[in-house]
Amino acid sequence: MIENMLEEINRLPQKFIKNLDFNLSSCKVYLVQDFDLSLLDNMVSFGLNIFGELGMNEWGLVPQIRHGSVYILKEDDQTDIMGLAIFMRDWENTEKAYLFDFAIDKEIQGHGFGRQFLKIIAENLLEQDFKKISLTVDVENEPAIRLYRHIGFKPVEYSRNEYGKGHNRYIMEWDITGFKEIEKR
Ligand SMILES: CC(C)(COP(=O)(O)OP(=O)(O)OC[C@H]1O[C@@H](n2cnc3c(N)ncnc32)[C@H](O)[C@@H]1OP(=O)(O)O)[C@@H](O)C(=O)NCCC(=O)NCCS
Repeated sequence: MIENMLEEINRLPQKFIKNLDFNLSSCKVYLVQDFDLSLLDNMVSFGLNIFGELGMNEWGLVPQIRHGSVYILKEDDQTDIMGLAIFMRDWENTEKAYLFDFAIDKEIQGHGFGRQFLKIIAENLLEQDFKKISLTVDVENEPAIRLYRHIGFKPVEYSRNEYGKGHNRYIMEWDITGFKEIEKR
């Protein structure tokens, strides 16, 4: 049973779900604790669909589930994944979580799911005593940059040719220590 492999973290706010034109019952964020072939296949297909050949395969995902943190967003009574976020702990600063992969299903992008997903994850990381989230983003990926900026990330570096010639990235960081206070305002 898929539910035994997933730890429920939180549900997306009802007022957010209610205001959308999608027919959704209850969307929840889960931490993947274990997996079977079907769940693994589901995650690999999701990544392939969004990132093409750059998506993570089983050889990347399994170590991330076992040794990093893999969060998914899905309806509680469905198996299809709506969002995926993969984190690793920074070796030099153990209070920093590095966001390695972050994606929302193409059909529902641009409606606020990414923002809601990341907010719930940030609260969970804060509970685990993380203080910072860092990531890199393609300098031309405007929707992602806009989302990251609005949620609290700040660009700390422009890294030319980060992933090879022409792959220029912003390195961004978000100090999540004041997150709850900000949300209450
Ligand atoms: C980047 C990505 C994860 C963002 O997820 P998303 O769900 O599309 O993002 P959101 O809808 O939460 O926010 C993006 C922007 O959409 C718009 N948006 C948000 N809520 C909206 C709504 N209810 N209606 C219409 N537009 C909305 C806004 O412009 C928003 O930015 P802002 O509200 O902060 O100004 C997603 O687009 C994706 O998977 N892209 C492909 C993979 C990728 O590039 N990943 C990032 C790698 S670093």
